[in-house]
Amino acid sequence: MSNGHEKVEKNIGLMIVLITILVSVGGLVQIVPLFFMNSTTQPVEGLKPYSALQLAGRDIYVSEGCYLCHSQMIRPFRAETERYGHYSVAGEFIYDHPFQWGSKRTGPDLHRVGGRYSDEWHRAHLINPRAVVPESVMPGYPWLQEPLNEPLIEKKMRLLKDVYGHPYTEEEIQGAAKALEGKTGLDAMIAYLQNLGTTIKTVR
Ligand code: HEC
Repeated sequence: MSNGHEKVEKNIGLMIVLITILVSVGGLVQIVPLFFMNSTTQPVEGLKPYSALQLAGRDIYVSEGCYLCHSQMIRPFRAETERYGHYSVAGEFIYDHPFQWGSKRTGPDLHRVGGRYSDEWHRAHLINPRAVVPESVMPGYPWLQEPLNEPLIEKKMRLLKDVYGHPYTEEEIQGAAKALEGKTGLDAMIAYLQNLGTTIKTVR
């Protein structure tokens, strides 16, 4: 006796079509709601877009490839929250284009490193990590002591505003070049690091 199930099992073409439909519906049910949920589309309370200096630091973070050794994504596991603080939530990354979540931890996660060390510690550490952490395998970045070279900062901020809707004011954009005057790569990097993950207050 032939039934519907037997037909599917004996006809690989029909099976492929049905599996494709099934997986597509399953995928859509999981993915589509994310575009409409406040917890994944709205910034967490108090989140601000990066200042000109922080943005310049973030660009150095990307160009130096810090993300190759550091993640910025604390997972909701006890071992992680005890070490790093509150787990990361989607609304903290609304102003990150692109995200710096990373996928490898040669060094520790940096999502809540903001406020953990003094600026002086970061300065010494970035120039030569071994100066403060003798066993460190992190490379030094002594050239960040040179003056910032960011002629496109205003354009970058305008782009973030126009394309992604970051709430920069006209004064912030026009004052961007001035905000970077006399600053070094280290100043920018430290401004960026000290702000990381500080919107959600966390006890560590
Ligand atoms: C080759 C891998 C590697 C790269 C690339 C790297 N780091 Fe690290 N980083 C480490 C390791 C390992 C540690 C832990 C030892 C230490 O503190 O130096 C660390 C520690 C840190 C810490 C201290 C974190 C904490 O919670 O104690 C900061 C901040 C940091 N790195 C920032 C950076 C920045 C910014 C860059 C890019 C300019 C960078 N790292 C590039 C490997 C790396």
